[in-house]
Amino acid sequence: MSIQKKFPEGFWWGSAASATQMEGAASEGGKGLNIWDHWYATEPNRFFEGVGPESTSDFYHKYKQDIKLMKEIGHNSFRPSISWSRLIPGGTGEVNQEAVDFYNNVFDEMIANDIEPFVNLFHFDMPLELQNAGGWENRDVVDAYVEYASKCFELFGDRVKKWFTFNEPIVPVEGGYLYDFHYPNVVDAKRAFQVAYNTMIAHAKAVEEYHKLNIKDGKIGIILNLTPSYPRSQNPADLKASNICDLFFNRSFLDPAVLGEYPQELIELLREHGQLPETKDGDKELLKNNKVDLLGVNYYQPRRVKAKENLPNPYSPFMPDWFFDNYEMPGRKMNPYRGWEIYEKGIYDIMINLKENYGNIESFISENGMGVQNEGRFLKDGRIEDDYRIEFIQDHLEWLHKAIEEGCNAKGYHLWTFLDNWSWMNAYKNRYGFFSVDIETKERTAKKSASWFAEVSRNNGF
Ligand code: BG6
Repeated sequence: MSIQKKFPEGFWWGSAASATQMEGAASEGGKGLNIWDHWYATEPNRFFEGVGPESTSDFYHKYKQDIKLMKEIGHNSFRPSISWSRLIPGGTGEVNQEAVDFYNNVFDEMIANDIEPFVNLFHFDMPLELQNAGGWENRDVVDAYVEYASKCFELFGDRVKKWFTFNEPIVPVEGGYLYDFHYPNVVDAKRAFQVAYNTMIAHAKAVEEYHKLNIKDGKIGIILNLTPSYPRSQNPADLKASNICDLFFNRSFLDPAVLGEYPQELIELLREHGQLPETKDGDKELLKNNKVDLLGVNYYQPRRVKAKENLPNPYSPFMPDWFFDNYEMPGRKMNPYRGWEIYEKGIYDIMINLKENYGNIESFISENGMGVQNEGRFLKDGRIEDDYRIEFIQDHLEWLHKAIEEGCNAKGYHLWTFLDNWSWMNAYKNRYGFFSVDIETKERTAKKSASWFAEVSRNNGF
């Protein structure tokens, strides 16, 4: 077979996952509670078919077998996250030795199999005690996070050379403080912007700590879900709507992380509406001096917007949506299970934007994937024939390849995710993995996409 699309040498082929979604053992090994354990205990009805985070995919017990499977399908890198409430139950104070042993074992096992650990420090899973103390609204929690991050660098930094401070830090803002899909289910934009701002401060302080260590070959970055905001038309009103969306949903994190400052337009907009967060002396310099080395880009779907049809209800809570309406483009391609549009070119547009406006920072696709319901339908001779996933990945890779050919600094592609895992409120509704997981027995079975991806990574292209 001749390879049409060859990727640069050393391209990172792998997948990503998160502690709460795959480890299970939520009340084992000395782990403390996080907001997901708590929310499930208090409102199980919020979770698809009432399935909570207690056992998820059981990576905690099956990591050796899983890493072997990663190796078999040609992974040279994999991104897990560390569970803060497992490493430091309660969020501050004593480190839990059982957790240190577990993560040491995982990273050692990966390295022994030539799979580089890309380690994320926070994937939506705030320790409950710290949430009770105000979560990201409280600057003491920022300090606690920096201590936790520093502890991770100290414990694992001799082997882990790629660190990420946060995965999609905007999601806890949207889910927890605007749109009611994460605990603590607050609806209050002012508090949301404070949470967003303090998260960025926590991020910059962790970057500062890491850079102080001066670790050879060590890099630290952040993972952002960059969702291009396409306007319905070139009408100035539609363009304005898409620009505001971009400010709220992309540039609010991308600019401070990569350029070291917030967009002035965003600051003005928030000021005009009395929504600016509280800041402290020295914050500006902190952001300016602690930019990321590496950027992870999660891309699933585009955002399409148009100018608002009607004025917002002045008595409703202030929302970013006061400035735009979502636009359903006729003929758009959909993943009906997740309700997300599939627009492969988005990946290229993101990369070109990074090249042109963000100094062509070193980046990679840290998540991309397709969640499908009832995949059992596609079972044939014991294997899920997920041709739709293969097509999805290949179509995105083609655009990524084109971006690289045009000089974009993209270094890898990670699928969401390795194993079917627990997707927050959607629990096991949509399956994303290269391997299916029987949620009763936890048995893993390779899907067709697993062997396809093995070939692609072996050939470094397709
Ligand atoms: C990303 C997250 O937003 O998308 C993952 O980093 C998540 O945690 C994934 O699981 C897929 O989204 P969902 O909501 O279908 O699980």
